[in-house]
Amino acid sequence: METKLCDIQNLNSEEALRGLEQAGEILRSGGLVGFPTETVYGLGANAFDAEAVAAIFAAKGRPGDNPLIVHVASLQQARELVEFTPLAEKLAECYWPGPLTMVLDSRGLVPASVSAGLSTLAVRFPSHPGALAMLRAAERPIAAPSANLSGRPSPTLAGHVLEDLQGRIPLILDGGPVEIGLESTVVDARGEYPILLRPGKVTQDALKLLCGDCPAAGQADCARPASPGMKYRHYAPQGQLFLVKNWREAEALRHSLLQEEAPQPLLLLSEESSRELQRRGVPETQIISLGSEEEPADFAHNLFAALREADHRGAGYIIGQSIPAIGLGAAVMNRYTKAASKK
Ligand code: TXA
Ligand code: MG
Repeated sequence: METKLCDIQNLNSEEALRGLEQAGEILRSGGLVGFPTETVYGLGANAFDAEAVAAIFAAKGRPGDNPLIVHVASLQQARELVEFTPLAEKLAECYWPGPLTMVLDSRGLVPASVSAGLSTLAVRFPSHPGALAMLRAAERPIAAPSANLSGRPSPTLAGHVLEDLQGRIPLILDGGPVEIGLESTVVDARGEYPILLRPGKVTQDALKLLCGDCPAAGQADCARPASPGMKYRHYAPQGQLFLVKNWREAEALRHSLLQEEAPQPLLLLSEESSRELQRRGVPETQIISLGSEEEPADFAHNLFAALREADHRGAGYIIGQSIPAIGLGAAVMNRYTKAASKK
């Protein structure tokens, strides 16, 4: 199968209009389309079509027990799929459209495979204009995981989708680089307050402030198990990733690796640390800057692309600088720690 890339950065261009029309046709007839959202690129299929949904799992090599998020273009569409609670109303009012996914009781309209047989369904109303245009063109809810091969970092550029899924899907809508760079915050919104299943741009603190409480699933004070997807090793680069706290630790670890005659490690550093280590003689070619230490949003935006770049360069060892797990930093460190785990 040939994979076509279609530029939709200018939604009114002829290329975009044609591409969106084609995306609508592909989705309605059971095919898969890669598309941009404000978080990461998604791989979409008609949520009502069990065969199309099975094709998502096959294209990604995704385990069947990891449920998908259904994307909608309106609150109305979401209400048809799941049972809204007062909490869901409040969260939707505050954060939709946007990078928040809510797990609610399913009304049973989508095939069981979408939610891996669970009685709940995850729904998200994205804010990206290209995603919304595609959802409208499809005229139905779209089930979509991140558009990477299972186990690879989520795609933040159309080129990443092509890298992973070329030949497996007919069309990728290219909306340019995504804004956020990490997947949506996922909460269970069935109860009185949200339970955090996956940290993201909508932070635990913001949710606590709005709702009174927001425990993380799997924490001692929370009976709910974490989201099924969280048990898999995600976002893994092929090399071994070591996390360090600052440039001093990065330099020390690099030094000891080189003394053991290991291959040159690749360093993922803040701009500030990058400047410091270059001053101390580390070649620029062995460093990728993730952005300012003061800006977790920079790290969020650049982390997945950097992990992919590490693979391109064949880096056997990667030294990655952490940031404090505060605010959006918590989501960054959640993904970073998984990438560093050997499981
Ligand atoms: O930002 C995002 O959410 C992106 C874009 C494309 O929208 N999508 C995404 O999908 O990250 P995916 O499939 O890579 O991650 C979905 C997460 C998984 O951790 C999954 O286990 C969880 O959501 N999930 C889905 N349905 C669930 C449910 N019914 N109950 C609990 N967790 C669920
Ligand atoms: Mg994913």
